[in-house]
Amino acid sequence: MRVFNGTAVIIATLLSLVACTAVESDTIVDAAADSATYRYGKASRDGIGKYYLGREISHVMGHMGAAWLERPEREREERTDLIIENLPLDEDDVVADIGAGTGYFSFPIAERVPRGKVLAVDIQQEMLDIIEFRKGAGAAANVEGVLGAEDDPRLPEAGVDLILIVDAYHEFSYPFEMGKAMVKSLKPGGRVVLIEYRGEDRSVPIKPLHKMTQEQARTEMAAVGLEWVRTEDFLPQQHFMVFRRP
Ligand SMILES: C[S@@+](CC[C@H](N)C(=O)[O-])C[C@H]1O[C@@H](n2cnc3c(N)ncnc32)[C@H](O)[C@@H]1O
Repeated sequence: MRVFNGTAVIIATLLSLVACTAVESDTIVDAAADSATYRYGKASRDGIGKYYLGREISHVMGHMGAAWLERPEREREERTDLIIENLPLDEDDVVADIGAGTGYFSFPIAERVPRGKVLAVDIQQEMLDIIEFRKGAGAAANVEGVLGAEDDPRLPEAGVDLILIVDAYHEFSYPFEMGKAMVKSLKPGGRVVLIEYRGEDRSVPIKPLHKMTQEQARTEMAAVGLEWVRTEDFLPQQHFMVFRRP
């Protein structure tokens, strides 16, 4: 995979310039609907004390962790090159990378869709600032940053061919609302590729709330109307799960 030259240095510089702010949101949620969908309880160390279909939702990784996403050993450890290679893409596709972070996946994917584009969605403006900076420094121009809300990725209706979510879904604080909005944004037959650390595999050295079992992921995707297509386990630590809008 082609890695943007000097990314780690640029990110470190940008992070030193931005204030360390909490994740903010302008999310407005109906209280009655919220209590019907979610349960609230004691928060575990890495969780927010909010439960969806039996799973406790994890904290959001703050933008100060951006350099970790760009660590040089990531490609070897997680075979991120295989994730990109195996995405079912045509060169004119519109891809939404939800929870895009620094654009680690958005930029190489943009090269696979030269006649399409990548909508890089994140709820942290600081992450979008890094993406804009990379574009200004010559990275693929067909990446567009989108500032999402916690319950809405703000994507065009029926305008997306493929949604990619890598290591981010378990952080969504409104997974039901996000899932519904994702379905609405997909073209009929459009795909979701969900990458999560394997929750069933105790040998994967990741905190439990940052992992998901295949069964849990399938339950949550079915709850918003997505059909399971296949799960592939060619990655060293993660499930590569494919769903589609009927
Ligand atoms: C662990 S990072 C992964 C970033 C990127 N996918 C990668 O693998 O390099 C998770 C990202 O998801 C974002 N995120 C969390 N909740 C979100 C939501 N509801 N909508 C969009 N992004 C969200 C966070 O701000 C963070 O940048």
